[in-house]
Amino acid sequence: MLSHRAARLAPSTTAALDAQAKQLAEDGVDVINLTGGEVDFPTPSEACEGGVGAIRRGFTRYTPVAGVTPLRQAVAARLSHAWNAPYTSEEIIITSGAKQALANTFAVLLDPGDEVILQSPYWVSFPPMIELAGGTPVVIDARFKMTADAVRARITPRTKALLINSPSNPTGVVYDRAELTGLAKVAVEAGLIIVSDEIYGDLVYDGAEFTSVASLGEDIRARTVTIGGLSKTFAMTGWRVGFAAGPRPLISAMSALQGHTTSAASSISQHAALAVLRDEPVAELVRRRSALAERRDILCEGLSGLPGIDIAVEPHGAFFVFADVSGTYRPGISSAADFAERLLREAQVAVVPGADFGCPDHVRMSFVAAPELLRRALARIRDFLNDRRDTPMSVVTTYSVEGMTCGGCAKRVRSALGTAIPEAEVLEIDPKAGRVQISSASPLSPEVVQAAVEESGYTYAGVLS
Ligand SMILES: Cc1ncc(COP(=O)(O)O)c(C=O)c1O
Repeated sequence: MLSHRAARLAPSTTAALDAQAKQLAEDGVDVINLTGGEVDFPTPSEACEGGVGAIRRGFTRYTPVAGVTPLRQAVAARLSHAWNAPYTSEEIIITSGAKQALANTFAVLLDPGDEVILQSPYWVSFPPMIELAGGTPVVIDARFKMTADAVRARITPRTKALLINSPSNPTGVVYDRAELTGLAKVAVEAGLIIVSDEIYGDLVYDGAEFTSVASLGEDIRARTVTIGGLSKTFAMTGWRVGFAAGPRPLISAMSALQGHTTSAASSISQHAALAVLRDEPVAELVRRRSALAERRDILCEGLSGLPGIDIAVEPHGAFFVFADVSGTYRPGISSAADFAERLLREAQVAVVPGADFGCPDHVRMSFVAAPELLRRALARIRDFLNDRRDTPMSVVTTYSVEGMTCGGCAKRVRSALGTAIPEAEVLEIDPKAGRVQISSASPLSPEVVQAAVEESGYTYAGVLS
């Protein structure tokens, strides 16, 4: 039924893990979720008032496809004064989040087979976005910054673009001016377009300096599409406002594309964005940045004291720590995916395994949570690692249970099992799939499990694995 394009598309691991953690929380499990890609601060009141004002004043209709002119002007002005990247409003398109800006860019840039050079670790959505547009991702295993020479070595007659993401998701590395200049010069010499995802540009710590690629000189700016948005800087992930800034023919093509697909970003969100850019709460942003720096220190310091965990690279931007967990491998844990799964099941801490970022021995942890939560998560990870070393492997059995439809059903089954076999641990109940997973020190009697399931009002249908 599906096109080849869609059939190859896997759901994002980050979203899947986040959903699993939320489901566990709904089932009453006290999960600490470190998978998130958004800060827990509220959207600034300036944006909220701007949005409410738009509704009250009736700005509730289609806007021009590329966005309302004052917002395009405000984005151009901010890029010019804050990032020294001198774009004009005609070189800006407003999109529904930075994701759409990226998707539009690749769609108007790539012909089938065109290559885009990027580094691993990469943000999970980069390769699928390039492939959806018909392109081929060419990945440099950078660990953790790609060099100009490495890029030069991968250029072929099919190379169309170089993708840079600084500060990076998932590593938090920030390229300095000289490194970016080196990369950009290679791109200019080879006639490539630079796609520079700068969504985390306002979130840098320890005096690290963010450099916008388009600030590096007119020859570079003329070949650069700068991607940004309000999601991360202004805690506005749900408002869906992003932008692309770049050469006019590309922006016009994106506008034509957007006109035939989603049309403009929400009129209400655009007015919220305009309000927060006009009355930027500078002091509040500085306070938030220092709160994030403090959280980063808590997580990095805590992790660096844990056996087997190696912070691959210290994050100077964004809000993630990317850690190598291969030192924790033992029977039952032979990849970061196993580590993440067991950590969630046994210690109720959710992290994202690195395979989808191109690094199967790493996990990504966000430091967006409050300091107390981070400290509790660290304590749980410490206990988890110690347990793993001292106790023998437990027996994990999956049972089929019919008749469950929702989180409430899962709660009833969990409670009946807890009463009947207190020595065992119910790892997971998936009501829709009809699966119940239990861990115990020795094999359980199926009759005991059956009796507990039936006691809670559902049908026991045997052992699955
Ligand atoms: C590197 C990177 N680019 C783009 C985005 C998308 O941002 P938005 O929510 O504005 O679509 C994200 C969000 O996680 C990101 O990490």
